[in-house]
This record gives sequence, C-alpha cells and structure tokens, in this order.
Amino acid sequence: MKILITGNMGYIGPCLVKHLRSCHPDATLVGLDMGYFASCLSNCEILPECQTDIQYFCDVRKIDTAVLKDVDAIVHLSAISNDPMGKTFENVTMDINYQASVELAKKAKENGVKAFVFASSCSMYGAAEDSAKNEESQLNPLTAYARSKVFTERDIGKIAGDGFIVTSLRFSTACGMSPRLRLDLVLNDFVAGAIASKQITILSDGTPWRPLINVKDMANAIEWAISRERTNGGDFLAVNVGSNEWNYQVKDLAHAVSGVIPGVEVSINKNAAPDKRSYRVNFDYYKKLAPNHQPKYDLINTIEELRDGMEAMGFHDEKFRNSNFMRLNMLNQLRANGLLNENLEWA
Ligand SMILES: NC(=O)c1ccc[n+]([C@@H]2O[C@H](COP(=O)([O-])OP(=O)(O)OC[C@H]3O[C@@H](n4cnc5c(N)ncnc54)[C@H](O)[C@@H]3O)[C@@H](O)[C@H]2O)c1
Repeated sequence: MKILITGNMGYIGPCLVKHLRSCHPDATLVGLDMGYFASCLSNCEILPECQTDIQYFCDVRKIDTAVLKDVDAIVHLSAISNDPMGKTFENVTMDINYQASVELAKKAKENGVKAFVFASSCSMYGAAEDSAKNEESQLNPLTAYARSKVFTERDIGKIAGDGFIVTSLRFSTACGMSPRLRLDLVLNDFVAGAIASKQITILSDGTPWRPLINVKDMANAIEWAISRERTNGGDFLAVNVGSNEWNYQVKDLAHAVSGVIPGVEVSINKNAAPDKRSYRVNFDYYKKLAPNHQPKYDLINTIEELRDGMEAMGFHDEKFRNSNFMRLNMLNQLRANGLLNENLEWA
C-alpha cells in the first residue's frame, strides 16, 4: 500500500505517520508539505519525517500528478488550520483549504487513487448549544476556516464513486502531545499555562462547549478511514469523530487541569463577550461504523501526557501565547521576515 499524507509536517501529521508506520509496516508512506512549521519541533529524538519513505516539500495548490503515481490512499491534512489564521489569511485559506482540496480529490480519482480521507472539523456546527449535533444536523459555520471545511466536504462528496471512496472525518478539537506541539488548542493552552505560570486564563466566560479528541486517537480514526469499505458508510461518508464522553465546557477543562497539576489558579473572564462557537456533538454514528477504532484516551491521561511532555521539553515560557507554538505567530514571523509572500508561498 502506498499512502500519501499531505500536511504531514504539522501537529497531527507526525503522530499519524508514527501510527501508520506501526500498523502498516510495509506501506510506502509519502509526505507532502510546505514546511511552514517544520522548525516548530518539541523535544523529539528524530525528525518525524525520517519515518516517511519519501518527503516532498511542495505546495498542495501546485501538485504535479507524478506525485500521485501508484498511490492507493490520500490522507489530506494540509490546511490553514484554525480560525485566527483563517481570519488573517482569508483568501489563502479558501485557496488552500477549499479549492486545492477539491482539485486534489479530482486528480486523485483520475489517477486511480482508491481512498481519500479529508480532515474536516466539528467547528462546522458553529453555534449549537441546544442539543448535541449529529451528521444530519444543520451546519452553521461561523468563520472562514469552518466555511472552507463545509465547502470542501460538499464538493468532494460529488466526486466520490466509481471505486473512489471519500471519507470526511469531522474531528473534535485536538489535544495531546506531538513532536510538533501546538499551543493554540484549548486543552494544550491550559496545560501550558498551568506549567509555565501556575495560571490558567480562560479567554471566554468558560461556558462554551467543545468536543475534544487526543491526537493519537485521530490517527487511529484515519487508519480506519483509509481501509473503510464502501459497504460501511457508502462512497462518500461524513462522520463526526470523537466520543460522547469528551464533550466538555471550557471551564471544566480548566478545572480538570488544575486537578492534575497542583497549585494552579483558574481565572474566568466573567465580562467576556459570549463565545458564539459552542457546540456539543453526538458521536454515535462513528461508534457504529468503527467499533474497533474508538478513542482510547481520556481527559486525565491526556493532561498527564501533556504535562510530562512539556516538562521533558523544559517548557517554562509564561508568554507562550506570543510564541511560535501558536501557528498564526509562526506564519506572521515568516511573513515579517520576507520568507513568505502574501499568498503564503515561499518568497
Ligand atoms: N488540530 C485540530 O484541532 C483539528 C481539528 C479538526 C480538524 N483539523 C484538521 O486537521 C488537519 C491538520 O491539522 P494540524 O493541527 O496538524 O494543523 P497544522 O497547522 O499543525 O498542520 C497543517 C500542515 O499543513 C501544511 N500546509 C499548509 N498549507 C499548505 C500548502 N499550501 N501546501 C502544502 N502543505 C501545506 C502546513 O505546513 C502544516 O504542516 C487540518 O486540515 C486541520 O484543519 C485539525
């Protein structure tokens, strides 16, 4: 089996490559990435890309079809991957996350790729406090990032069929340790604050709901999607990936962190404008389709894993929200130094 992973040099990619290397030891793993965050390593012994067989440094907007030769499955992770970046680089977000993704799916089908796995997001449910959203629920994307996922899902769904199986995994918000840690994710941010300054600062009033998933459980779900039969979900499947037990209010996440890391003060901004992005998600369908690939981590062991990982890094940066562990800061720095142009191409 030959598997192409776009965006493999980010937060999820290295965990996925490690996972696929262990469950498909003989597979040819091909990485493809611009390398925006290549230097954002977090205390890993080897460069994660040493576990791929081939690594391309290129732009998913300009893929040469030669890259797709003999590829059986594509895992499409490359994207401008959160709301703040999507706001700052809105047009580029649409180009990379939407247009390039649909083009890639078209080329993949033309070149005989059999499985296309797209990293979508539960953020497409937007503001949805009334009840837990399932796959039939109305979508309500509130940001450019979330819209890019909705549009892509809609259009790649039309390409599926005739031996081309497309799976859109609507992931919960990721958390957990990775060789390229991100601290712009809610639980990772709280653990970083707890370790660096014994302080967790919640930027909202703490009430928004968020479903979470450990990054290694995401890799497990992707493994399932790569090999999914069309009889299990159809030619095109969009499915929420996470677990019902992992729907938390932001303030509960903060208190769980302070329960694991002693002496931490939690401050809630009672005057914050309500965060409209609040959603609870129902994961029954994923449980039905993939009973053997359900999330294994829980909140407490994920917090412990983050704590241990950050302590091993010697992490102590109280101003981490200004650091390159935040994806937007890294892009802004590359722009400011003239290394990336306004289209986020290497200058
Ligand atoms: N992290 C989460 O909470 C989460 C949740 C749901 C969905 N997702 C999705 O999963 C995917 C991976 O997320 P992540 O957390 O690893 O993000 P990340 O930002 O850490 O990694 C994204 C990778 O894509 C690459 N990339 C961006 N534009 C590119 C381009 N034009 N050509 C080639 N490579 C390009 C970047 O260099 C980076 O290595 C994204 O599609 C994201 O939207 C993430």
